[in-house]
Formats: sequence, C-alpha cells, structure tokens
Amino acid sequence: MKIIVADNYIHLSEIAANIMADVIRDKPDAVLGLATGSSPIGAYKKLVDAYSNAHLSFSKVRTYNLDEYIGLDASHVQSYHYFMRSKLFDLVDLKAENTHVPSGVGDDLTKNCREYDEMLSSCPRDIQLLGIGSNGHIGFNEPGTPFDSRTHIVSLTEKTKKDNSRLFAADEKVPDRAITMGIKDIMSAKKILLIAYGANKADAIYNTVCGKVTENCPASVLQKHKDVTLVLDTEAASKLDKSIIEK
Ligand code: GLP
Repeated sequence: MKIIVADNYIHLSEIAANIMADVIRDKPDAVLGLATGSSPIGAYKKLVDAYSNAHLSFSKVRTYNLDEYIGLDASHVQSYHYFMRSKLFDLVDLKAENTHVPSGVGDDLTKNCREYDEMLSSCPRDIQLLGIGSNGHIGFNEPGTPFDSRTHIVSLTEKTKKDNSRLFAADEKVPDRAITMGIKDIMSAKKILLIAYGANKADAIYNTVCGKVTENCPASVLQKHKDVTLVLDTEAASKLDKSIIEK
C-alpha cells in the first residue's frame, strides 16, 4: 500500500483529485467507482475546479457509485443520488446516462442488486474511490461481510447510523438499511484510492494497514490488492509507524 499523509484536508483533497484527474487524462473514457460521505467532498470540489479551469473533461467518463440508502429515492436530499448530483455530476460535463448509483427503492431489491452486478461486470473500474467507516467499513460493507460478496442489502450497524446521523437533520431518522456494492467488486478495480481524515478514523486506518486481513475489518482486504493508495491527514494516520509513510 502506498500511504500519503497530507498536512490538512485541503491538501488531502488536492492529492486525491490529482490522482483521479490523472486517470481521466490518461484514459478519457475511464470508468470511475465513486464514494459518498464527507471525506471525498473536497476532492470532488477540486475535480469540478479542474473541469472549470483546466479543461478536464468528463464527457466520456462513466461512473458507478458504491451505495445508497434503502427507501430514499433519487430526489431525496439525503440520498446518495442527490449527493452525487450536487457535488459532482451536475457540475461537470458528465452525461447523466453515464452515471450509475444503485437503487434503494422498488418492490424487488434483490433484482436491483443483480442488475447492478451485471453493470459492474460489464464495466470494470479503472479507479475506485473509497472513504472508510470508523468501524472499517467500505461502501456499506459492514464488519462480517464476506470478501466475495457482490451487491447486496445490508442492515446498518448502530455505530454507522450514529456516525452518519450528523449528516441528517435532528428530526430525520437515518435509514436502517442500504444497498451496497460488494467487496469482490470493490477489489476488482484496477486501482483503489482511499481517503480518510480525522482522529475517529485512526483505529480503522491502523487495522486496515497493519491489522490481520479479516472480515471484522472490511478495509483490511485492501492489503491483498496490488495498487492501493491511502491519502490521509495527520490525525487519521496518527497510529501508523512513520517508516511506512511516503515522503
Ligand atoms: C458512509 C458511506 C461510506 C463512507 C462512510 C464514511 O457510511 N457509505 O462509503 O466511506 O460513510 O463517511 P465519512 O467520509 O463522512 O466519514
């Protein structure tokens, strides 16, 4: 694993956005795996800036998101569909038909999962962007998820609901379930880029990098991937030995 520690969140976001932009410059029709949460917001902003100022074009890019809450349709402000439109999709020249977020609505959620699997199988990702939960989850693959999992419906842990409640209004309930890309598909991306900042991610990052590869820490599976870059701030990296950090 390549580990880069940035001075602050802005610097971290620049580094992550540059890695994504390089993939798109090398391959204008790149397929991107995208993530939500607060961690990638700065990187998306830098990508929007690169589109506006440096003519980075997304016109041939295709995107596949990791996950979505069950029961929130694309127009719901807390949905990940809405998040992606407001932070990236509507701000660059991405074609709407080239963007994909798994659907958490409808009568047959199993069918939604299988349809998403088919799309993922036919469109291997050139790069997969990830955040990480404080319990080591990636996407919404909570601890205990098998490493060979594909798209599935998950019951969110109390810890994840509590962590994510900060993004919801006080009178809004965090949904109990989500649909998520599985670990097998995350691992099938050619390149993986994980962003984490803040002290509440330090244990998860330590377990991801130095811990045993175990389903108890889903992100530890990344030790088995041959091209992973972690971009961290000093707090998220605080439990790592300095000798393993890139200068
Ligand atoms: C959610 C998302 C994850 C994300 C995590 C961390 O649970 N499903 O993909 O990595 O939040 O979010 P944050 O970056 O806000 O800490």
